[in-house]
Amino acid sequence: EKIVLAYSGGLDTSVILKWLKETYDAEIIAFTADIGQKEELDGLEEKALATGASKVYIDDLREEFAKDFIFPMFQSGALYEGQYLLGTSIARPLIAKRMVDIARAEGATAIAHGATGKGNDQVRFELAAAALAPEISVIAPWRLSEFRDRFPGRAEMIAYAEANGIPVTASAAKPYSMDRNLLHISYESGVLEDPWFDASAPENKGMFLLSASPEDAPDQPEYLELTFEQGDCVALNGEQLDPLRVMEKLNELGGKHGIGRVDMVENRFVGMKSRGVYETPGGTILFTAHRKMESLTMDREVMNLRDSLITRYSTLVYNGFWFAPERLALQALVTESQNNVTGTVRVKLYKGNIIAAGVKSPVSLYNPDIATMEADPTQAYDQGDATGFIRLNALRLKVGSGVQQSNN
Ligand code: ARG
Ligand code: SIN
Repeated sequence: EKIVLAYSGGLDTSVILKWLKETYDAEIIAFTADIGQKEELDGLEEKALATGASKVYIDDLREEFAKDFIFPMFQSGALYEGQYLLGTSIARPLIAKRMVDIARAEGATAIAHGATGKGNDQVRFELAAAALAPEISVIAPWRLSEFRDRFPGRAEMIAYAEANGIPVTASAAKPYSMDRNLLHISYESGVLEDPWFDASAPENKGMFLLSASPEDAPDQPEYLELTFEQGDCVALNGEQLDPLRVMEKLNELGGKHGIGRVDMVENRFVGMKSRGVYETPGGTILFTAHRKMESLTMDREVMNLRDSLITRYSTLVYNGFWFAPERLALQALVTESQNNVTGTVRVKLYKGNIIAAGVKSPVSLYNPDIATMEADPTQAYDQGDATGFIRLNALRLKVGSGVQQSNN
């Protein structure tokens, strides 16, 4: 039997690797996706092999992540519960997809992951795997009582690691948990479980790795031009860049200017509320600039329709339904809605703010001749038409108001 394990090289997945091998008497194939987490990938293969893996995959998925996951999602304007740009949520289906590909290529019957039984990530991994490879089963050790009884705390895991010759990195455990990728870093649990704990306080600024705090950001604003083609950002300051480079460059600039920090309490799919702190510097610039590009180029009713679906789209991504038919159907509509979203947005980055500084497009729908309060050379709009327009729209309001008065 073969099991493909999502492996990070940390204590949890190292212990899980060894435990799976013992418990299932299986060959363990360790898989690590590089999605921009910038963790030490050097030495990972040796470590996995030393821990007992029979084979190791370390795959650079950053380009695919940017192009086929982040960019299509940003076309939709997705924002979960009005604040969260879905940085972790959007990465999970990609990891799951590659895992089941490996499982099939290797003839493995199961995949395994180290997500807990209380979170969203388990759901995302497993719904994606179910949609793509229903024949492959999933092992989630943290949901198995025999695993939890064996490892009630960190001390037992460290003891097990030492007894099994698994190198335990001496790095002091942080008082919160992190998840990093090309789009964001999330911070949860530990000291952050108290929603009154002020993560923005100067004494806590060491937690943030992607962004300066707005107080420490440069006193000089910085201009940035983002060029969009059909809803995707294709160039920064006139330089053509692929989606991965766009994200990297935006992260650098956003981070420098203290952009994209969010501190919120969110609703997990599994039922509880959870406090999360996020840094999404590049994503926040992209999100804001994309909306400004749409303001000039998108038809009103197309925008209205797409906007009415943002909550649905965001919830699908958050809840793990990336590969579900309804997300794919919605995506078709979203992508179609971007046909005319082409042009350039100029913003000014300044101490956590993204300040509008101009927008232009070869396919702009904005016509100053029509909108102007001066004489309209196009004669497209006759102010006299507005009288009948308002009268017809007012009709039902007048009727309703009359009925209410006679009811009093
Ligand atoms: N709360 C966020 C989400 O559900 C972040 C989850 C972070 N996951 C993690 N394994 N640390 O998308
Ligand atoms: C976890 O429980 O594995 C992390 C948090 C989450 O998935 O929501």
